[in-house]
Amino acid sequence: MRAPNKLRISLAVTAAASLIAVTGCSANAPAGSSTGGGSDKLEITSWWTSGSEADALNVLIDGVKKSSPGLSVDNAAVSGGGGANARQALAARLQAGSPPDAWQVHPAGQLKSYVDGGQVADLTDLWTEGNWASQMPKDVAEAQQVDGKYYTVPIGVHRGNVLWTNPSVLSKANVKIDPAAGVDGLISSLKQVQASGTTPVCLGDKDIFASAQLLESLIMSRAGADNWTKLFTNEYSFDAPEVKQALADYKAILSLANKDHSAITWDEAAKKMADGDCAVNLMGDWAYGELLNAGKKPGQDFAWVSFPGKEDIFDYVGDGFSIPANNIPHAEAARTWVKTLMDPKIQTEFAAKKGSIPAVTSADISGLSAYQQEAAKSLASGAVVSSLAHAQAAGAEFAQTYADAVSTFNGSSNIDAFIASMTQAQKTQL
Ligand code: GAL
Repeated sequence: MRAPNKLRISLAVTAAASLIAVTGCSANAPAGSSTGGGSDKLEITSWWTSGSEADALNVLIDGVKKSSPGLSVDNAAVSGGGGANARQALAARLQAGSPPDAWQVHPAGQLKSYVDGGQVADLTDLWTEGNWASQMPKDVAEAQQVDGKYYTVPIGVHRGNVLWTNPSVLSKANVKIDPAAGVDGLISSLKQVQASGTTPVCLGDKDIFASAQLLESLIMSRAGADNWTKLFTNEYSFDAPEVKQALADYKAILSLANKDHSAITWDEAAKKMADGDCAVNLMGDWAYGELLNAGKKPGQDFAWVSFPGKEDIFDYVGDGFSIPANNIPHAEAARTWVKTLMDPKIQTEFAAKKGSIPAVTSADISGLSAYQQEAAKSLASGAVVSSLAHAQAAGAEFAQTYADAVSTFNGSSNIDAFIASMTQAQKTQL
């Protein structure tokens, strides 16, 4: 039976699901083992380069500089929403034995891939010293561990399945999107928007995570939170009728989207929606931060509903940072960086710009937006599941197979081929 408050994170990643690039590093060295020189420098990598992402990242950089006056921080972010480019660049550096001091990581599946590759340092001593686990929901804390040890530090909790809407476009088409009307209701509303003469859906999947996330939201809604989670323990099949239905829905929604979707980015698509070029945009709630950053007014230029479906599913996309197990250039500065992330004030300030909610419950969220208050409620009472589009529900290899299968499907619309790829991956990679 499903416990609604329980974060059901699948860690069905085997040793076979090692990361895209394995360094050949030895077992994890204790955090703090350094081969490099002074502690006056810190290099961090992430994929936070959009307006809101960069501003939010600067909150963290300013924070670490405050606790280490004189520290020079090299922000080596690599652009590309969802991080595929950044992770590729990181893999090359790990392979070459020249890692940054800290890098952005999703918890659970993606983290486990780095742990399996011997690439990230064990941070359990910091967790124990700071009593960090007691400062966040149990399940969020659990997602930061692998086999009982902590290898990452969370900075925020995003929700992946939010449908952002343009109130004027919907009212012109005389449409109200009711989440309780499910996916069928959504598709008929979108068709009504089309009949009113406006493109119903804005999509920006230049970086494939955007459509991978749209499809995952549909699968979650059709199959339910429990079955979604069971996909990663091999107790539910990609061949199930609900998944087939979700693929048919996905195909229908693609046909209602802007034709140039593969040429534009997630943030461009969100802004197009707020500009009235279409009625809806499915995107994680980093879109909230981005729309605010672009000067759009919540409730006027845009609104939101949780992705239509039978239950309130919270698709958890966690952000945090890990530090390398080997060849760390500035160990002390890296430890100061991860400690800075746990400062509740910094978590709140970061969330205000990013659209996420703080990972630590001691952070004051009373000044955050109405949207974020709703997200915090859903996190506490909804069915919380992990995202596959962001390599959290499963490891890096499985998530990559999914991204590739979505990409192929976008060209072929071949439901059977998609199911065959994912079924094969379930057998061999989980
Ligand atoms: C996610 C990440 C978010 C946001 C998004 C788009 O993977 O968790 O923080 O940055 O990518 O780039």
